[in-house]
Amino acid sequence: MPPTINQTYINQARTLIYKIAGLYLPTNKDSIIKNRLDKLARDLDIEDYEEFFSELKRGLYKQDFINAFTTNKTDFFREGFHFKDMIDRILPQRLLSDEPFRVLCAASSTGEEPYSIAATLLFAKEVYQSTAQVSVQAIDIDTSVLETAKAGKYVVDTHLNPLPDWLELKDYFDISAKDKHKIIMNAKQCLKDILSFKQQNLSDKTYSFGVKEFDVIFCRNVLIYFKVEDQEKILNRLFSYLKIGGTLYLGHSESILGLAYKVDRLGQNIFVKVME
Ligand SMILES: C[S@@+](CC[C@H](N)C(=O)[O-])C[C@H]1O[C@@H](n2cnc3c(N)ncnc32)[C@H](O)[C@@H]1O
Repeated sequence: MPPTINQTYINQARTLIYKIAGLYLPTNKDSIIKNRLDKLARDLDIEDYEEFFSELKRGLYKQDFINAFTTNKTDFFREGFHFKDMIDRILPQRLLSDEPFRVLCAASSTGEEPYSIAATLLFAKEVYQSTAQVSVQAIDIDTSVLETAKAGKYVVDTHLNPLPDWLELKDYFDISAKDKHKIIMNAKQCLKDILSFKQQNLSDKTYSFGVKEFDVIFCRNVLIYFKVEDQEKILNRLFSYLKIGGTLYLGHSESILGLAYKVDRLGQNIFVKVME
């Protein structure tokens, strides 16, 4: 049995997850905070929240706490029009050049998104007969999803996550049947060779990338967990790592906010950077 929770502990958790990761859980999310604290207490054998929070403030359990409070829902080729946009609009021209093509996948969760990007890039290289070097840098704050992502092995329910028909998945994944609607997808080495994963907190003041390093940035379905003023700061930081002419993809319910005047809007939350 986890120890009894009270409003003080819920408020402490709210304050700390905001301070550490920038994740904002308003009071209408109290039941979520309670459930996650309960689960954490069971997983870590916590007997006393008072002691737990004082140790957390000293840095102990910090990563477990972060991992417990992230929401990791993701899918292969989610919001598929963004992958089609890369294939149809960006890559035909861009892969003619020998300049390396770099993509940042911010908040990559368990890896389905960056593997989808990597497969799209390799497919495009084949179609456009390109020798350009392509790479995907995936980042997330949650170390447990990063471990899953590095392993690259997935059980996919193809009813819940319909897969694209415009590329041969078996060129990029070893695929076997699990049961009626489920398949096992194991990322091939060709995808792993162009992908790297690292921990990065989007709330940090700077990220460890070069200025204007990326041609494309995916930042989807993560800003919604931040306060608007913090979303704005993250977007500004990400923008400094995007080349002029580069593309930013946001999730369907996210907004470009104050950066609107620096981009061309192509619809479907596709933005092209036109100025610094
Ligand atoms: C809902 S998932 C979105 C995954 C993927 N981008 C997609 O659209 O399918 C949100 C991810 O954001 C990550 N995240 C939350 N706060 C973060 C932060 N401060 N820095 C980096 N990643 C964060 C979570 O760990 C989680 O994996």
